[in-house]
Amino acid sequence: MHPNWQTFKKNYNMNILILQASPRAKGNTAWMAEEYKNAAEAAGHNVTLVNVSHKHIAGCLACEYCHGKGNGACIQKDDMQELYPLMAEAEVLVLAAPIYYFTLCAQIQAPIQRMYCVNAPAKVKKMALLCSSYSPGVYDGAMAEFRDICNYWHVENTGVVTAKIDEQKTDATRRKIIDLVSEL
Ligand SMILES: Cc1cc2nc3c(=O)[nH]c(=O)nc-3n(C[C@H](O)[C@H](O)[C@H](O)COP(=O)(O)O)c2cc1C
Repeated sequence: MHPNWQTFKKNYNMNILILQASPRAKGNTAWMAEEYKNAAEAAGHNVTLVNVSHKHIAGCLACEYCHGKGNGACIQKDDMQELYPLMAEAEVLVLAAPIYYFTLCAQIQAPIQRMYCVNAPAKVKKMALLCSSYSPGVYDGAMAEFRDICNYWHVENTGVVTAKIDEQKTDATRRKIIDLVSEL
């Protein structure tokens, strides 16, 4: 067997979970998430796209139930319960979020921080970030958070695509997203 074959097979048909956090169903972030999904499916991956902004996912209570009696389970029985199994099976995690006040919007922060109960998603090896804003030069906070989460979870940062006002829903941005998918 060719030495690269197993690596190729292992990486070829991955479970990809995209968390789309904009409340605007036909907005710029939703478009980016759809483009990523289309490109990834065309490449043969299994993709699940969840709009987390339409879910009821509260912030972490820091009650530490999960690290004691809960044995890894969160005490809050909200819509995060639907996400935990998807997170557990994901091999690639894509965060898609608009910039609100110079950082990733709140709707993406809650599901990330609720992973505290298990510390890290078990099978995720790679992550990507899709981010939209109105203005240029507003991505430092989001990029720093994303980079640090990748490092903390020991996953590969496959890259970030951003789209400010004049880059939204353009062929150039679609191309960047396709290139990002090709990094998998
Ligand atoms: C509450 C709120 C805060 C925002 N803060 C910023 C900001 O700090 N910088 C910026 O460039 N755009 C900001 N925007 C604009 C959005 O990031 C921008 O319109 C983005 O494309 C929206 O993505 P969507 O179409 O997926 O909802 C803000 C929008 C809202 C609703």
